[in-house]
Amino acid sequence: MSADSPLRVGLLGLGTVGQGVLRVLAQNGDEIERRLGRRVVVTHAAMRDIKARRDCDLSNVTICASAAEVVAADVDVVAELIGGMQPAQQLVLAAIARGKPVVTANKALIAEHGNEIFAAAQAKNVFVGFEAAVAGGIPIIKAVREGLSANRIDSLAGIINGTSNYILTQMSRRGITFGEALAEAQKLGYAEADPSFDVEGVDAAHKLTILASLAFGTKLRFAAVATEGISKVLPQDIQLAQELGYRIKSLAIAKHAQNERGDTVELRVHPTLVPAEHLLAKTDGALNAIRVHGNAVGQTVFVGRGAGGDATASAVIADLIDAARWLAAPAQAVPYLGFGSGALKEARALSFDEIESAYYLRLRVADESGVLRAITSILADLEISIEAILQKEPGENEDATLAIITSQIPESRCSRALEKLGELPFVRAGLSRLRVEHFE
Ligand code: HSE
Repeated sequence: MSADSPLRVGLLGLGTVGQGVLRVLAQNGDEIERRLGRRVVVTHAAMRDIKARRDCDLSNVTICASAAEVVAADVDVVAELIGGMQPAQQLVLAAIARGKPVVTANKALIAEHGNEIFAAAQAKNVFVGFEAAVAGGIPIIKAVREGLSANRIDSLAGIINGTSNYILTQMSRRGITFGEALAEAQKLGYAEADPSFDVEGVDAAHKLTILASLAFGTKLRFAAVATEGISKVLPQDIQLAQELGYRIKSLAIAKHAQNERGDTVELRVHPTLVPAEHLLAKTDGALNAIRVHGNAVGQTVFVGRGAGGDATASAVIADLIDAARWLAAPAQAVPYLGFGSGALKEARALSFDEIESAYYLRLRVADESGVLRAITSILADLEISIEAILQKEPGENEDATLAIITSQIPESRCSRALEKLGELPFVRAGLSRLRVEHFE
């Protein structure tokens, strides 16, 4: 292989993203060559279903009988685009063992086994790129790892699951139910094979695990992410939040602090009220957006397509280009997570009970006098101040609905308030609580 011979890529998987890689290389091959100084060509590929119709030109690609054959073939870089845990993990480790650079779009693999993969890669001094694992086409990994490397990053918050965002957007625009919107998202191909990964926050938790490590220089710890899904958000919550000046988004939030509690991180994914004027609130449909706050740069927001063949291929190919540059100058590698492995910290992850937040509370109450006074006195006794309150006029013989936005309080105190409110005789079952994020 000479420095100006084509970079030979072996693709593991020819699904949505693999086909996107071939299409984008066909469309932009000359421009990519002009940037890199050599062509990038897919020479080998393996796929599960050989007969499936594919929207890309495979005429110059050797189709191998197995993914392991691609890893063993005469390729310079292996791109793992299969997803899931096995055989993806074995294949990535096999490529590393052969000293071949690896590019992967596999968020679950990096979030759950990245520590071992990076250790194996470091031992062999092998490049591993994973830009496509988070937020599809948005180059957020490079941005956090390299573009913002002068900063102490204290927090990030993102819409990093397009399916949830699509569902909440459609519920908000058209007043349809969660189930109806999910069925549409599946039809459009946004959802994971198991859509509970999307709507219960697992997919976003994988991506958040990676982003938090890059931002704070902490080891990957998927198990530390606290998640709540969006399936319990009602159209009524969306409506009330709008009237209070907020939008409901499924946010993945990471915060880092060093204080009397030591070195701590908050890693959480949950439906969140976001001020309507913030860019994240305006990120609709299947788009992704990530807000990163650094102490030198201030707030930065990255918006774009978080899924889809061509958008994700954009990130995969950027990694292939980096892999080619690494092959030419391996000594100049950027550490996998932006911090050398010896510099990665262990920080204690806070549970939901230990965090502080502002809250949205929704209560259905009997339409009687004294109700508001009893509710506000419970909140006052717990030193919870009310930032906003909205009462919906009940119809005849109906209950009234109250929506309250609280001040910033410990979650444990909010839970105590909900218990106390639930004991009031005129408060109906089904109290609802959502967290509010103000990005101060
Ligand atoms: N199911 C994911 C999403 C696809 O909805 O964002 C991209 O990871």
